[in-house]
Amino acid sequence: MTVKRIDHVAIVVHDIDQALSFYRDTLGLAVTHVEQVKDQDVAVAFLSLDGSEIELVKPITETSGVARYLAKHGPGIHHLCLEVDHLEATLAALKARGVQLIDEEPRIGSGGRRIAFIHPHSTYGVLIELYDSIAIVPGSILRSAAIEARALWAGLSAFWRNLSATGPTLREEAMNGNGRGIRLKAEGEIIEE
Ligand code: CO
Repeated sequence: MTVKRIDHVAIVVHDIDQALSFYRDTLGLAVTHVEQVKDQDVAVAFLSLDGSEIELVKPITETSGVARYLAKHGPGIHHLCLEVDHLEATLAALKARGVQLIDEEPRIGSGGRRIAFIHPHSTYGVLIELYDSIAIVPGSILRSAAIEARALWAGLSAFWRNLSATGPTLREEAMNGNGRGIRLKAEGEIIEE
C-alpha cells in the first residue's frame, strides 16, 4: 500500500456557479471539468491546481447523503481524496488493520473513476476517498452500469484523463464480469453522520 498524493479536496456547496465566483474568478483557478450524473444526485466541478484539484460538489436532489450533509453542516469541506497505487490491495491492507471502510471494494465515482471511502470514525473525523489511476474505459462502464453521465465541459477533464489509448483492461473486464454489477453511488453518498 502506497499513498501517493492528495488528489483533491471536495467542498460541498449550495450553488456551484456562485462558488465558482470565488474559486475560479477570485482565486483564478481553472475549471477543468464539470459533470452531472443523474443517477448519483450530484453535480461536480473540478478546479485545477498544480498536481491536485479542488472539487465543488452540489447535491441535485434533497434526499441524497450529500444533500443531508449540506443541510446539517452547511457548506464546507466534505472529503479528502488520496491517490493510492492499488485500490484493492490498499483496501485489503486497511481492513486487515481494523480500519473501518465504507467500501470494501471499489465503486465508480464521478469521472468514471474507481474509488472507495474510509469511514471518518477511523480517520479522526475526515471522510477520506481513495482512488487509483488504473485506466478504465468509461463507455463500457457507463453502458454496463446504465448511468447517464454528461461531460458538460470536457477540456482537460477528470472524466477523460483516465482514458488511455489501451483497450479495456483486465481489471475493468473483471469488474464488469463479476456478476454483481457495479455499485454506483454519488461522491460521499454515504455521508450521514
Ligand atoms: Co471526491
